[in-house]
Amino acid sequence: MSLKMTKLFLLFLVLVSFTCLSFAFPSDKLDRFSWEEEVLQLFQVWQKEHGREYSNPEEKGKRFHIFQRNLRYINEMNAKRKSGTQHRLGLNKFADMSPEEFAETHLKEIEMLSNMESRKIQDDDDCGNHPVSVDWREKGAVTEVRDQGECQSHWAFSVTGAIEGINKIVTGDLVTLSAQELVDCDPASHGCAGGFYFNAFGYVIDKGGIDTEANYPYTAKNGSCRVNANKVVSIDNLLVVDGTEEGLLCRVSKQPVSVSIDATGLQFYSGGVYGGDNCSKNSRSATLVCLIVGYGSVGGEDYWIVKNSWGKEWGENGYLLIKRNVSEEWPYGVCAINAAAGYPIKEVSSSSPLLSAAI
Ligand SMILES: *[C@@H]1O[C@H](CO)[C@@H](O)[C@H](O)[C@H]1NC(C)=O
Ligand SMILES: *[C@@H]1O[C@H](CO)[C@@H](O)[C@H](O)[C@H]1NC(C)=O
Ligand SMILES: *[C@@H]1O[C@H](CO)[C@@H](O)[C@H](O)[C@H]1NC(C)=O
Repeated sequence: MSLKMTKLFLLFLVLVSFTCLSFAFPSDKLDRFSWEEEVLQLFQVWQKEHGREYSNPEEKGKRFHIFQRNLRYINEMNAKRKSGTQHRLGLNKFADMSPEEFAETHLKEIEMLSNMESRKIQDDDDCGNHPVSVDWREKGAVTEVRDQGECQSHWAFSVTGAIEGINKIVTGDLVTLSAQELVDCDPASHGCAGGFYFNAFGYVIDKGGIDTEANYPYTAKNGSCRVNANKVVSIDNLLVVDGTEEGLLCRVSKQPVSVSIDATGLQFYSGGVYGGDNCSKNSRSATLVCLIVGYGSVGGEDYWIVKNSWGKEWGENGYLLIKRNVSEEWPYGVCAINAAAGYPIKEVSSSSPLLSAAI
């Protein structure tokens, strides 16, 4: 979006929040018409910014109605924020979708697998001295944030992201890998209908490697598996963290890690540390597979840095900060992020500058 558009957009946002504040109390003077007028203008700016066009006036009316409802919700939630670091909601590209529609297209429940248990290990490496913060992006081990589009392929992007990370750490090369190959070829996942990281790592191990994004690009559709896909980057094994936050922290200090969360509260997430409003605490209610690429703290709050596949326009340039180091209220961490964390193993080559730096 252009700077001018952004400014205009922000101006409207400020205008709208003032309107909300001044008419917060029920009053027969409440000027409903002018609020609707303003929101309609905001909606048109938003439509332009997102290149969103509707096929007929009925559809536009329906979308405007949803947009209005979402705007009210976003304003309400933002007004309840207790600190500057707490997460914010915003009118992002999902602002014309109802929460029900969003759940349908983005939050299909993930089938967890019982065979994961056999891969669970307690990290036996000494992790007493892990750094206070880690960001694998700064170490050049994370590729660009992608946009899954109208395809629930988050699981495939989580897997390519984890393999990209360990490959960079072990070989020194950052290569963007093919999520499409996983969507098309992994027989145990469901392509654009969803999947889990565990099977897809297994596919890459069994096949002896995965192709690059350049050779086998993303289409956001189910496709037929290319039998001649190259084996450019291989992995040797797959392990699952023991379910504890210490175990996860220890592993993330060594490489990016695939995790699953319930992402129900995240449709309008636009930045800040997310404390788990509206997501499930249950370890079996995951709806999104994503990738932890680091951790840190701000204003006394500890967080994970999570790479998502909903495009760069969502969240903090495509990333989510989610709270860690929380009370027993969250037995599996916020949104059950600790419940099923997995990572690929790649045999270490002796000439890896990054690896020695990380240890
Ligand atoms: C994609 O393929 C999966 C099976 O692998 C199927 O369940 C799903 O319905 C397909 N989705 C579309 C949009 O065709
Ligand atoms: C999300 O949680 C907040 C409180 O944390 C609540 O006020 C709000 O109504 C919830 N939203 C939904 C859609 O359930
Ligand atoms: C968790 O929080 C406590 C303070 O509440 C802090 O002393 C401790 O270092 C934190 N642990 C981690 C792993 O960040």
